[in-house]
Amino acid sequence: MGSLSFLSAPMHFNDLSAETTRVTFWGSHSALEIRSPLPGVLRLRHLPSLGAAAVTLREVPSKQSWSVLEHLERPLSIRREGQGAEQTVVVGTEELSLEVQLALGTWRLRDAGGRELARCDSFAGEVRPDYPVTRFRSRLTLRSPVDEAWLGFGEKVGALDKRGMRFTFWNTDVLPHHPDTDPLYQSIPFSLGLRDGIAWGFFLDESWRMEVDVAAEDPLGVRWESSGPELDAYVFAGPLPSDVVKRYTALTGRAPLPPLWSLGAQQSRWGYENAKDIRAVLHGYRKARLPLDCLYLDIDYMEGYKVWTWDKTRYPDPAGLAREAAEQGVRLVTIVDPGVKAEPGYRVYDEALASDFLVRNDRGSVLLGEVWPKPAVFPDFTRAPVQKWWGKLHKEFLETGISGFWNDMNEPSCFKLLNGNESFSVPGVPSADVGKVEGITLPYDARHGDRRHLEVHNVYALGMAKGTYEGLRELAPERRPFVLTRAGFAGIQRYAAVWTGDNSSYWAHLELSISMLLGLGLSGVSFAGVDVPGFLGRASGEMLVRWTQLGAFYPMLRNHSAKGTPQQEPWCFGEPYLSLTRQWMEHRYRLLPTLYTLMHEASVEGLPVMRPLVMYAPGDTEALRMDDAFLFGRDLLVAPIVRQYRTRRHMYLPEGRWLPFSQLAPSGEILEGRQHTLAEAPLDTVPLWLRAGGAVALTEPALHTTTAQWKQLTWHIHAAPRIDARLYEDAGEGYGAARLTRLVGEWQSGRCVLERATEGELPLARQQETLCVYGLPAPREVRGARQHRFAEGKLTLDVEGDWRRLEILL
Ligand code: GLC
Repeated sequence: MGSLSFLSAPMHFNDLSAETTRVTFWGSHSALEIRSPLPGVLRLRHLPSLGAAAVTLREVPSKQSWSVLEHLERPLSIRREGQGAEQTVVVGTEELSLEVQLALGTWRLRDAGGRELARCDSFAGEVRPDYPVTRFRSRLTLRSPVDEAWLGFGEKVGALDKRGMRFTFWNTDVLPHHPDTDPLYQSIPFSLGLRDGIAWGFFLDESWRMEVDVAAEDPLGVRWESSGPELDAYVFAGPLPSDVVKRYTALTGRAPLPPLWSLGAQQSRWGYENAKDIRAVLHGYRKARLPLDCLYLDIDYMEGYKVWTWDKTRYPDPAGLAREAAEQGVRLVTIVDPGVKAEPGYRVYDEALASDFLVRNDRGSVLLGEVWPKPAVFPDFTRAPVQKWWGKLHKEFLETGISGFWNDMNEPSCFKLLNGNESFSVPGVPSADVGKVEGITLPYDARHGDRRHLEVHNVYALGMAKGTYEGLRELAPERRPFVLTRAGFAGIQRYAAVWTGDNSSYWAHLELSISMLLGLGLSGVSFAGVDVPGFLGRASGEMLVRWTQLGAFYPMLRNHSAKGTPQQEPWCFGEPYLSLTRQWMEHRYRLLPTLYTLMHEASVEGLPVMRPLVMYAPGDTEALRMDDAFLFGRDLLVAPIVRQYRTRRHMYLPEGRWLPFSQLAPSGEILEGRQHTLAEAPLDTVPLWLRAGGAVALTEPALHTTTAQWKQLTWHIHAAPRIDARLYEDAGEGYGAARLTRLVGEWQSGRCVLERATEGELPLARQQETLCVYGLPAPREVRGARQHRFAEGKLTLDVEGDWRRLEILL
């Protein structure tokens, strides 16, 4: 190891420069720059390792972000407090202020009410003279009281509250993975702190390899460490967890509304060998009267694993196959891996080589590895021209009728390096980690233009997804892209849905999927799913049913499995499993108006579909501990069975009143919240509860989606003094007219009034709708409905499609 030059403690600032939108503190070797990119958000660039340059620099060097969207710079206020060694400088906006202790070089973050949200105990850095890559180490420690919960961190294992865990941010292909495997495929260095019901957010916008110790080693400290020269942090005000998520996604982007078909049932298998297999699955679905919207083609469709080719013996007429599927209402999605076969004469390789688009090894030769194609080269997706070129490559597949693209192995995964370790040794310069490889990927020192892999590994997939998404927007501007990705970084939600990679048919993985998807959702990735009922291993019929029941509420529902494992299509398990699986797939389709509305909400506000209970009960520690249950949107509480042979389960109901709603219909007496309950759950049942004041909109089941202008619609409303629900509708594809319906209600002293207001140009597709209202006593009179009936606590109202106001006199 080379000699270390420590630039750490004691840090202090002896100077500051202030402009309207930027305040910079200068130490002898370090700097801290503060800006406010958005309301309730401060950017704190910690540069601990500037060395002697700190004294002469008047501005910190600019830096590229892969995640953060363009934004305005907001004015900052600045105020000095105290004297001498005690002196602090308070920099802030209306919503947040940062108190910087000059003598210590540390800071405290306060909200508008003066409450301390966070405290940085230290930041420090090291620079080593080594060649060529592992030169930096930057650290930052947040003081974290023991009762502070830590949520988010993207795709991570463990409970919802990650306190006491350590994570590495280094996108990794791991097979098989286990409930304690880290790192996995995605790196999203964003987290929410939650204490006394108040949330705040912390995002480290560093693509470099990073680690975080979430109060594992030091019970009072959350320590972040990066292999890069600085720590570019964003802090977000709450006070609610939803406020933090909204602000984080305002900064890093939101998932665009996907095409409706991608929310339908999806079937995949690594092992469908040819067009005949695909046809058989399609017919299997229709024969079993199972809903299906999408079929995936895994790597076997390619000729010799060459991306953008077809194996014509297996798939003689891909366009014909796509047409045949389309006649059944089913889309085809093809897998696209980044590894390009190194084969002279193969167009993709030739173009990439000629344009200098490929990742190189330390020595400067094009890096050769092995993935499915052998040998393989890797396009450098960190560069804009490479992304553009890649985007255009989708043209022929679109023309063939392929509807979506599945980006896999994009960590990037590389099974074997052929010349990856070729490197220089520079005389007289100590070299550390030359040729070092972590996981099955490229070495730290691989070259991406003038950057090294250690710096950009985590954003490789983000670049690929960006190229794919933007290419699709350009090539088919009238359609919404559907891209699915395994790897990613903060901001991936702008381009792709995420699935959690190669899980197994373990009950533990079924359960783990909940906290993983909740963590992803809190980290901006609202459109996500996991392989149902597990990619590796052998699923049972019971597992298929239970996993489909849970999957009915995943934003994305895909059945996928690995080569060599038993077939997993729903009919492979016999009865009663097939019928029960069908029943829950049909429930999924019934839920589509609500799911689609939630996806729309995610696209405009950033809130995920699957939300932890604490989202709406932030001060409730019992709710925080419920990480095997979640909210589907705001109003529907879902408590799936996550264990074999279980037919009842414990549930904690957070504040509010809850109507048992197990088969998407009332299934018991209304319960008060803030209590534990035991719910019955025979194999056909998922315990569900509908919140008082909330509603879900359901339609009829269908074999596939067509439009999100629902012809049949039933609102299920749980009455409360205030009622609020929404429905978003459009064609389900493209960028045409839409309509947002808002249903608001008030119930007081013997009268419940429901009103419907709409925005948008989309014409109404239905003559009538049904409203089922629960929790009201028998009405004396109903005004505004065509008909009404009341039985067993349920008031059913048949109304005109364009109803405006209903008055229920009690
Ligand atoms: C990877 C993917 C998996 C896919 C397989 C073959 O393991 O994670 O989903 O089926 O590669 O392409």
